[in-house]
Amino acid sequence: MRHLIEPTDLSTAELEEIINLALDIIDNRSKYSDICKGKKLATLFYEPSTRTRLSFTSAMMELGGNVIGFSDAMSSSVSKGETVADTTKVINCFADIIAMRHHVEGAPLVSALNSRTPVINAGDGSHAHPTQTLTDLLTIRREIGRFDNLTIGFCGDLKFGRTVHSLIKALSRFEGIKVVLIAPEELRLPSYMKEEVCDRYGIDYREVSSLEEAIGDLDVLYMTRVQKERFLSEEDYDRVKDCFVLDAEKLKGAKPTMRVLHPLPRGNEISVDVDADPRAAYFRQVENGKFVRMALILKLLEWADRPERDLDPARDTVADTGMRCSNRKCISNTEPHAVKPLFKATADGKGMRCAYCEHRAEK
Ligand code: NCD
Repeated sequence: MRHLIEPTDLSTAELEEIINLALDIIDNRSKYSDICKGKKLATLFYEPSTRTRLSFTSAMMELGGNVIGFSDAMSSSVSKGETVADTTKVINCFADIIAMRHHVEGAPLVSALNSRTPVINAGDGSHAHPTQTLTDLLTIRREIGRFDNLTIGFCGDLKFGRTVHSLIKALSRFEGIKVVLIAPEELRLPSYMKEEVCDRYGIDYREVSSLEEAIGDLDVLYMTRVQKERFLSEEDYDRVKDCFVLDAEKLKGAKPTMRVLHPLPRGNEISVDVDADPRAAYFRQVENGKFVRMALILKLLEWADRPERDLDPARDTVADTGMRCSNRKCISNTEPHAVKPLFKATADGKGMRCAYCEHRAEK
């Protein structure tokens, strides 16, 4: 069975396959309008969403399939204490493919490990958001025309922003990528991302403290919202909420070919006077999300019947009950009775990281 839990679950060739299929769907909409007739997608959303859930729903509807699911976990058996594994086994009886969003990190991996159908991670806590990454890549392909030799600035909440983590991971597959990290001290990219992704795959990155000093070098500026819901206190959030704002004045320093991306929703980090600029690609990006999710659903359903495409979601992991994950928002800590701790060796081979959320393991 194939799932999409992390962007690196797809090889470079598979990423290209999905992007190319999305481009074909854009050009030949009617060819695909019946292709998922009789198939059902289950959208299991334990955390708020507008774009992601509705774009999955409209993607499946445009393929001629049906959609079931929930957008409020409290209206499901979760409110009675059902585990992610049990919910998955139940949904397997009703649907051909699952898209899951969860505030608990690692929940989609637990679902995949217990599922007879493909599972797609539609965002887990601060960890990963691989379908937003596919959306971002399709947007970069359509707006800029290439994935290699790009300088990409990530601005805002690089600590909690799961879309940033996933896009940097996917970019590690391409040549000549330079990353500029623009964030206040408190919201810098987590160390596991720097060590396990940037250092491991040789991504050239630098950290800067203002948008102005970087904007002129960029091919893509990836703006992000400060993730209020992930802060422990209101005061911590208030200190950083207005850290970097892109406005028409700052955009004057950018190349005419640069593109501004944002996964949305925005707070005030992009002023509305930027919206009319042709470089503002964030609303076009939303529509790309629907097309790329159509392509992903098609590919995962196709691969589900092809054993040569199988990839064990627990590959490279070791089970060790003598250790635990240091992240209290990880499913191995929130459902300790149901989830077996699993770890992966760190890039330097000296330590272990949790396989569900990538935080450090502790004794
Ligand atoms: C993002 C998310 O949920 O991580 N939104 C999205 O899926 N388009 C970004 C965010 O919430 O800031």
